[in-house]
Amino acid sequence: MSHALVSVKGLNVHFKEPVLKGLFLSVKKGEFVSIVGKSGVGKSTLLNAISGLLKGEGEIHAPPTIGFVFQNHSLFPWMTVKENLSFGLHENDEKKIQELMALLEMQGKENDYPTQLSGGQQQRVSLGRALATNPSLLLMDEPFSSLDGHTRLRMQEWMMNLIQKIDTTTILVTHDVDEAILLSDRIVVMKDGSIHSEHVVPFTKPRLNEIRYQQPFQELKKKIIESYD
Ligand SMILES: Nc1ncnc2c1ncn2[C@@H]1O[C@H](COP(=O)(O)OP(=O)(O)OP(=O)(O)O)[C@@H](O)[C@H]1O
Ligand SMILES: [Mg+2]
Repeated sequence: MSHALVSVKGLNVHFKEPVLKGLFLSVKKGEFVSIVGKSGVGKSTLLNAISGLLKGEGEIHAPPTIGFVFQNHSLFPWMTVKENLSFGLHENDEKKIQELMALLEMQGKENDYPTQLSGGQQQRVSLGRALATNPSLLLMDEPFSSLDGHTRLRMQEWMMNLIQKIDTTTILVTHDVDEAILLSDRIVVMKDGSIHSEHVVPFTKPRLNEIRYQQPFQELKKKIIESYD
């Protein structure tokens, strides 16, 4: 088994009540893992703890360079697309910006402001900003949940293509089990403050959107949703 890039051992987080209770999670380099589970179960708390934004008790090993994409586009409204992308970079690296614009399929929109972009475009820029520093680990907390159904489908398809091009380890929190199955190598279900079950996604990548209408996909989806309770 290859070495774990992220390892969480016996993580406890208490707010008013215990939220994470001795949670264990290990993610290998290059792996795409989704975290699902009921609302309030502690998915965002876990992601925040892995990123270092939140301190818990227990052991967490994660790489120092992490990109984080939040649920609601966290772009700076007073900065253009290009300025938003440059934000994390040390200098104005024009080559890197152009590379990102191509990856995001946003060429020509360098000087637009976030309010001039569609929701899907804004979320792509947020992702681009998270990727600008070539992070070893990408964390995404419900990145597409604020988008309408059609745009979300298109973004999931786009994300599938993107992860074939970039070499990043990713942890995605989502409520959308279709999205989790489409993109992940492995899906973990959180329940009662820890990882309740794990599901390996056996379908070869890249996966087409149509895969979600096939029976093995639907069977896996049912199994995952049934493990929430
Ligand atoms: N900063 C905080 N202070 C106090 N309680 C908190 C804080 N952050 C989260 N909680 C509580 O911890 C629990 C887990 O919250 P968390 O946001 O991790 O859930 P989640 O699984 O991401 O839910 P959702 O799917 O709705 O986003 C909830 O009961 C929440 O009220
Ligand atoms: Mg959350």
